[in-house]
Amino acid sequence: MNEVAEKSWSPTSWQDKPIKQLPKYPDQEALECCYKDLKALPPLVTSWEIEVMKNKLARISRGEAFMLQGGDCAESFGATTSPKIVNMLKVLLQTSFILIHEMGVPVLRVGRIAGQYAKPRSSDFEVVDGEEIHNYRGDLINGFESESGSRTPDPERLIEGYHKAGLTLNFLRALADEGFADLHHPEHWELDFMLNNEYYKDYEKMVESITKAVRFVDAIAPDKSARLQKVDFYTSHEALNLYYDSAQTRQVPRKSGFFNLSAHMVWLGNRTRDIDGAHVEYFRGLENPVGIKVGPPFEIDETMRLIEKLNPTHEAGKVVLITRFGKDKIEEQLPGLIKAVRREGFPVVWTSDPMHGNTFSTGSGVKTRNFDDIVSEVKSAFDIHRSEGSYLGGVHLELTGDNVTECVGGANGLNEQGLDQNYETFCDPRLNYQQSLEMAFLVAKEWKKSYS
Ligand code: PEP
Ligand code: CO
Repeated sequence: MNEVAEKSWSPTSWQDKPIKQLPKYPDQEALECCYKDLKALPPLVTSWEIEVMKNKLARISRGEAFMLQGGDCAESFGATTSPKIVNMLKVLLQTSFILIHEMGVPVLRVGRIAGQYAKPRSSDFEVVDGEEIHNYRGDLINGFESESGSRTPDPERLIEGYHKAGLTLNFLRALADEGFADLHHPEHWELDFMLNNEYYKDYEKMVESITKAVRFVDAIAPDKSARLQKVDFYTSHEALNLYYDSAQTRQVPRKSGFFNLSAHMVWLGNRTRDIDGAHVEYFRGLENPVGIKVGPPFEIDETMRLIEKLNPTHEAGKVVLITRFGKDKIEEQLPGLIKAVRREGFPVVWTSDPMHGNTFSTGSGVKTRNFDDIVSEVKSAFDIHRSEGSYLGGVHLELTGDNVTECVGGANGLNEQGLDQNYETFCDPRLNYQQSLEMAFLVAKEWKKSYS
């Protein structure tokens, strides 16, 4: 590609490039109509919030803070309910409090939420009762029910996705602003659930110590303690359905560049990061911080070109590298990548996604992950970054605040036979409430070995 062609970017210039993972909508007229409607709707987030988040990420790239990115593998429209949203915010806040308390640095909370509705799939079709039908690609594209009508890509879902994201975000903002996030009431945290966990004592101690700290601040500076009621929370999703994301990609007054105003941060999936493909073309025009999933198969040189293309000015806080090698491949693949990034001088934020390289199916065909495999990749990631002298600044987890049975292992020792008790995910298996809290303690322990 020549320089001139590289420069002519627009929110829709991706349409001239080869695209993966986005099926053709059969009704193009309906698609255009929905796209136009979506373009006219107000933004979900603001450019100011995006810029603040980028500054926070820049701090992480300098080793001064930590990022917790987590949520469902796939959100579903049907789960836009009060308990689901409350539980998700609760588990993300509580895991972040564990990290802050144990590590003593600020934690940037980023949900895979309010837009995580589109999924890449390893095959386009599946066979159900002898009939070949489109695979489910997330509620933003088609329906989960396994019959061909519901699996046809439907552009009305772009609008429904926007509304569901807006409702989710509205409730999240209200909860995070007042009351719910109130650090003055750690007694509302459900500790009973942790009773038979080896970290119960640590957790209890942490709650006590937060309570004391809050009382202390209350006593010496009552005006400051009001601020403890508010917590920062950011949204993110994989920008896979580029119709959805590009319709919400806009310019704002008195600022240069284009912002994807459907989320604070978006990421490129492991299967859609071809340097000459449509997704990278779309991403290169954004002002938002962007994540790049990096896992097998990948080439170091191509990854360097990709980072350069998305961040030619080497702006700190712009690129988050989310590595997801799998526990058996990380030792071989991460060190070279760290060395290459250092050689190029890229100011990236490094995070570890210990979930996506560690998925397997049980003998009876249930997709799951083993808690110990996830921990093993986290540990290796910290060990490798430590020995390379680089800063691992975050984790990327698929988790839920609900008591699901999707991943085996953890202190409660869920086994494969127990998986069907409460297996709810629409896509990949998530850590449940207790496994998530336990993971937070383990992450903090590893971080402390490396950086405190
Ligand atoms: C995901 O994050 O749900 C996902 C599909 O990840 P990856 O692109 O790393 O496979
Ligand atoms: Co997933």
